[in-house]
Amino acid sequence: MTLSSRVTTESRNLKPRGFTIWMTGLSGSGKSTLANLLKEKYEKEFGRFVEILDGDEVRKGLSKDLGLSKEDREEHARRVSYLAKVLSRNGVISIVALISPYKSSRERAKELIGADKFVEVYVKASLNACERRDPKGLYAKARKGEITNMTGIQDPYEEPTAPDIVIDTEKYTPTESVSLLTEGFEAKRLLP
Ligand SMILES: Nc1ncnc2c1ncn2[C@@H]1O[C@H](COP(=O)(O)OP(=O)(O)OP(=O)(O)O)[C@@H](O)[C@H]1O
Ligand SMILES: [Mg+2]
Repeated sequence: MTLSSRVTTESRNLKPRGFTIWMTGLSGSGKSTLANLLKEKYEKEFGRFVEILDGDEVRKGLSKDLGLSKEDREEHARRVSYLAKVLSRNGVISIVALISPYKSSRERAKELIGADKFVEVYVKASLNACERRDPKGLYAKARKGEITNMTGIQDPYEEPTAPDIVIDTEKYTPTESVSLLTEGFEAKRLLP
């Protein structure tokens, strides 16, 4: 074996395991907050490549043409799933922060990405708590009728029935939530 082929083989063995952290939950439940903290930690402490696929950001780029109907939300989730899939299979940790209110979209994402690379995280907070937080002022607008497709107000949110991890953000601080998630990924041998 030549030196270069040995190096190639060794690097291949060292390739970190990419996977997708799929965060679903109501608007204001804490998905983006936790995604940002996880990214910072995994880059700094584990030297991993991490990409956040935030629903709002992807909407501005790849899903500009889509609205908030059930069909469009499902198509949006499908595009995000595809991105997560190609990143995850190349060693990247993809953190999806997407309300993803429909069970069918989340199931399809798991199928596309592969069950061994997919962790469904239910970022849980009651509608009351989310409405009190209202970081983007969306609930206030929805109550005034200025928004008509708000998940939890006019649109449904189908709670996950068997998520891999549940994080109750009314019970745990962001720092505690990050520890719980990290323990969960370590137990699944996805980290470090
Ligand atoms: N324990 C907690 N974990 C996460 N966020 C919390 C917690 N307690 C309070 N917050 C606050 O709740 C808000 C959560 O907003 P965030 O933007 O993360 O929600 P989101 O789930 O990404 O919503 P959206 O779907 O609209 O993007 C932030 O203002 C955050 O500071
Ligand atoms: Mg967000």
